[in-house]
Amino acid sequence: MSALTGLPAWKSLQQHAEAMEVIHLGNLFANDPDRCRRFSFRLGGTLFDFSKHRMTNRTLELLIDLAQECSLKDKIRGMFRGDIINTTEHRAVLHTALRNRRNRPILVDGHDVMPEVNRVLGQMRTFSDQVRNGQWRGATGKAICDIVNIGIGGSDLGPLMVTEALKPYRHERLKVHFVSNVDATHLCDTLRELNPETTLFLIASKTFTTQETMTNAHSARRWLVEKLADERAVARHFVAISTNRDKVCEFGIDPTNMFVFWDWVGGRYSLWSAIGLSIALSIGMDQFEDLLEGAHLADEHFRTQPFEKNIPVLMGLIGIWYNNFFGADSLAILPYDQSLHRFAAYLQQADMESNGKSVTLSGEPVDYSTGPIIWGEPGTNGQHAFYQLIHQGTKLIPSDFIAAVKSHNPLGDHHQLLLSNFIAQPEALMRGKSQAEALQELEAEGHSKEDIKLLLPHKVFPGNRPSTAILMDQLTPHALGSLIAIYEHKIFTQGAIWNLNSFDQWGVELGKQLAKSILQDLTTEGPVTSHDSSTNALINACKA
Ligand code: F6P
Repeated sequence: MSALTGLPAWKSLQQHAEAMEVIHLGNLFANDPDRCRRFSFRLGGTLFDFSKHRMTNRTLELLIDLAQECSLKDKIRGMFRGDIINTTEHRAVLHTALRNRRNRPILVDGHDVMPEVNRVLGQMRTFSDQVRNGQWRGATGKAICDIVNIGIGGSDLGPLMVTEALKPYRHERLKVHFVSNVDATHLCDTLRELNPETTLFLIASKTFTTQETMTNAHSARRWLVEKLADERAVARHFVAISTNRDKVCEFGIDPTNMFVFWDWVGGRYSLWSAIGLSIALSIGMDQFEDLLEGAHLADEHFRTQPFEKNIPVLMGLIGIWYNNFFGADSLAILPYDQSLHRFAAYLQQADMESNGKSVTLSGEPVDYSTGPIIWGEPGTNGQHAFYQLIHQGTKLIPSDFIAAVKSHNPLGDHHQLLLSNFIAQPEALMRGKSQAEALQELEAEGHSKEDIKLLLPHKVFPGNRPSTAILMDQLTPHALGSLIAIYEHKIFTQGAIWNLNSFDQWGVELGKQLAKSILQDLTTEGPVTSHDSSTNALINACKA
């Protein structure tokens, strides 16, 4: 038995889960008209409604006991203070410093990092202002119209998700593109539409060694130099965002065109750093700082609020409740907002790269389930694709529904229709439809007895399916900043309870190593026999 599963709160939760198995959410609502008020919380203009979860006051008490027994408070303090909590890479974890808008000093190795954070923010402001107002010109003297961010993972998903989400705020002249895949189709499809004279490339890579990014960067550079027939054009069309100055110079980007960040910023937590330059170029630095402000609000909430009112702590604990005591494997992210169409993809890296671990901080194998599978698509599209399984399938799938009261694109009754679905789905999941209700409906529709016998079991919805509803006033930079930071801290909370290092990602290395040797196999003459029969066959099929 591990330290976690041996904790008194863990054991109590196991017993309590058995008791809760037979309690239907519909009854919890029927017996307590105050339930929604008690389990709803606000942060800024955003409402978080946790009332449609299979929990009572007792459940929350026990979950909070668990958080306390796992020293969550100390772990939160440690992160904000800059402790080396990423122990396998000997690094502090300080994405919160990037949005520390009150400039509270934060020490790493005895040095306050805030002056340097603010210097880079200033550099981002100067540069983004120049590009946006047309002062920054390409090699042939034209203003920039297209920006291509070349990066992958955290150097792509966050900026891509945010620029898509905040399109209503984007600069009219500037179009931002994202190239991540090493599949040349991604780069070629993007470049086909672009004029090299008015295109600016941002090479975004923490390490500046990532295979996909460097391959795309070199190809983009060749494209530009060929088209403009001028090697010196690189200086006006390429900037680098990285922690690795030497590699940036080696690539041939002038260090004056480099935006730095630091090893205490994890890739998947880096959109708040210079990695967010594409965001700043698209929406302007004032709006980018609003995004940071929103995140800072969530940071202060996470850092200071007691657990019973602490939104990310509650989200994390509720996730643990289903993951570890009800056997739920996944979490569906369902934004009823087309602008958030990359939100689930972004959270996949944030959550699954962080908590997809099976040993504890000290290297012991865990005997409990850890990070959930994150997936999802915007509503209402998902309703016509996979919701069937959430409503009537055999798996328990806790779901996060996200929407904004006010649309950026008011058009007829579209938004009311969208919101009615956003509200109806969690209600349907919670309530379900009983046999008696289904029977009454079929009878009212005039079906024969035989038909009813056939149809009835298919028309019953068990209900009792849990969801969180997150309702923003409007999807503004500030609200989005808070929302992302809340999810980051939910992930932290879960990693802290599971006793994981949520900030390394060794699991991605083996595939990279093998790809290197397979690349060699693919490019040498003759059939390959050194792998297993399946791998050999695939390599040889590619060569044939
Ligand atoms: O392979 C995983 C990973 O290391 C991510 O953690 C990271 O966000 C991504 O690759 C890109 O890394 P970089 O920014 O160094 O190019």
